[in-house]
Amino acid sequence: MCDEDGIISMYRLTCVHCGRSYSPDEIIYTCRSCGHLLFVEYDLGSLHIRREDWDRRPLSVWRYRELLPVTIPPVTLQEGGTPLYRLERIGEEIGIPNLYAKHEGMNPTGSFKDRGMTVGVSMALQLGKSTVACASTGNTSASLAAYAAKAGIPAVVLLPAGKVALGKVAQALMHGANVISVRGNFDTALEMVQDLCISHGLYLLNSINPFRLEGQKTIGFEAIDQLGGVPDRIVLPVGNAGNISAVHKGLRELLALEFIDRLPMMTGIQAEGSSPVVRAIRDGLPEVIPEQRPETIATAIRIGAPVNAEKALTAIRQTGGTAEQVTDDEILAMQRALAQREGIGVEPASAASVAGVKKLAEAGVIDPGERVVCVVTGHLLKDPETVIRQCKPPTEINADLHSLLSALQCS
Ligand code: F0G
Repeated sequence: MCDEDGIISMYRLTCVHCGRSYSPDEIIYTCRSCGHLLFVEYDLGSLHIRREDWDRRPLSVWRYRELLPVTIPPVTLQEGGTPLYRLERIGEEIGIPNLYAKHEGMNPTGSFKDRGMTVGVSMALQLGKSTVACASTGNTSASLAAYAAKAGIPAVVLLPAGKVALGKVAQALMHGANVISVRGNFDTALEMVQDLCISHGLYLLNSINPFRLEGQKTIGFEAIDQLGGVPDRIVLPVGNAGNISAVHKGLRELLALEFIDRLPMMTGIQAEGSSPVVRAIRDGLPEVIPEQRPETIATAIRIGAPVNAEKALTAIRQTGGTAEQVTDDEILAMQRALAQREGIGVEPASAASVAGVKKLAEAGVIDPGERVVCVVTGHLLKDPETVIRQCKPPTEINADLHSLLSALQCS
């Protein structure tokens, strides 16, 4: 592929809507012709990718480096390679025996965002940018702060005031980001940070950044490698809709490379109070209608105007998938079930994917014979306050055996 200067590169940035292409060296987030999002388009035919090379390397984001845009030594904290657990008890209970959870909470900062940030922050350096920024419901800011620290560059993060889980704010602060709390919701903070980046040259690392999504697509690659084949369905919690779009994009590349022979049904789960993608799918709308006042206990996905909605609707529709909403009670019940019946600690947004599978299985949408992978996106410790509120406090006793035995009700 040649860019305007005739330089050969292995990829370009292409508009999802009008197809206009841009040089990979341009700092650009949306199409100058039509304003829609861009994606990284590889010249797959000219890449030298061999399955055996991937198989030889440890499971991680960088196992798949030929399908990533980074050409410098990456900024890495050893992200990816997360466990894929079979949900034996929950799967049996809801009638989907081949139910799996890919635990993205096991990444360096406790969420899947690290996959995006290792690529995104590396690209910032590759493109010569010296300050990075994002708006965030929490996890993106924690991850960006850590990767910026590793890269040795400053980070600015905008958070919706009072609506970010404690663990995530703690991470962003401790990793040394400049943390700004905006009196407004995530959607407003995202508009503000976009304006800031465009006017002052900071490098924007929200999921509107096509390079960040390249890292996140490796969730799907790993799940296939771990399962030894393509699952029938991949289920993800949806907020800004970047992750579901990223996984779909990556799998389409594997299909084009003939590494797989079909795509899983991409299925998105949203919280009832923040579900514009679900309504668009249900009502067959060409685009989402933003929600002005999104609300849910799962603050990670408390988003009314998902910027990647166009890509996500395509992912769901092209693969015969679906979208479903779950209530806060359903989310919390599944968070407890995962913790107490499977030993898997996740934050509320993550439990939404499994809660959604339960609902879709009960409705007969998911067939009992399907092999289903749920992406559980963030660790339990991200939001300790929501955990503590659901649990009985510890029993405090005097420091003697008698008190211990009576607390344990043994004689
Ligand atoms: N799960 C968790 C734990 C998240 O933090 C997010 C998004 C999602 C799911 C949804 O992913 O936006 O790609 O659809 N968190 C972003 C943030 C918005 O700022 O941390 P998505």
